[in-house]
Amino acid sequence: MITIDSVIKTYGETTVVDAVSLELPDSGVTSIIGPNGAGKSTLLSIVSRILGADAGVVSVEGLDVFHSPSREVAKKLSILRQDQHTTARITVRELVEFGRYPHSHGRLTAECHAAVASALEYCDLADLVDRPIHQLSGGQRQRAYVAMVLAQDTRYVLLDEPLNNLDMVHATGLMRLLRSLADERGKSVVLVLHDINYASAYSDRIVAMRDAKVVVDGPPASVITPDALESVYGMPFRVHDLDGERVASYYR
Ligand SMILES: Nc1ncnc2c1ncn2[C@@H]1O[C@H](COP(=O)(O)OP(=O)(O)O)[C@@H](O)[C@H]1O
Ligand SMILES: [Mg+2]
Repeated sequence: MITIDSVIKTYGETTVVDAVSLELPDSGVTSIIGPNGAGKSTLLSIVSRILGADAGVVSVEGLDVFHSPSREVAKKLSILRQDQHTTARITVRELVEFGRYPHSHGRLTAECHAAVASALEYCDLADLVDRPIHQLSGGQRQRAYVAMVLAQDTRYVLLDEPLNNLDMVHATGLMRLLRSLADERGKSVVLVLHDINYASAYSDRIVAMRDAKVVVDGPPASVITPDALESVYGMPFRVHDLDGERVASYYR
């Protein structure tokens, strides 16, 4: 379990994470939704130690994230950042091999090679392994970064807007893959999504943030409702039951 206890982050006068307490389970798919600027990325960055907090404690299976060696944290938790990019001239395979760094420190073991091969295959990158990443389309590059995170092979996999740049084929493919990571490999997948219908279809739990706080938290059936969604986004929604799945519409 990841325990987030009373975490506060302020920039000048503005509090962007306001005493958030949240427990993230050790398996399953948890989606974080909410409008731009709600604090979602800041919270994930704090949990993964990219960013310090002004107050509060985060622990991953009892390991205090703020006071543990980054290598120990990186064996338990991986993150795909929203603004992930590299200027290095490396190939897809080399990028994915970086995911093994916390385990190998640069010397790839047989286990590392197996994890890299599995991540490349999972992300449909077989034809692109030797391509330099700066020559890929946005969506192809996004899949390469996801593969890097998968190669790290941690129990907790955090992804900040992983569907960015993906067409619906690859978006659906990635959501299926994340679901299977939870179901078949027992991982805890925590991801920030803007598409609430993907969140509805694939999550065990949806956490909604607004104005630096968690405002709604529960299974899709309790979050994908007109009232809950309006309280998160401040605009009207219609919600339909489609073969037992909740689908929200909000285009007009
Ligand atoms: N480095 C920064 N300096 C000042 N304000 C920031 C910084 N990073 C983020 N913010 C502000 O914090 C708030 C939350 O940002 P963020 O966590 O990125 O939101 P979300 O991911 O939910 O869209 C926003 O109002 C944003 O402008
Ligand atoms: Mg964000």
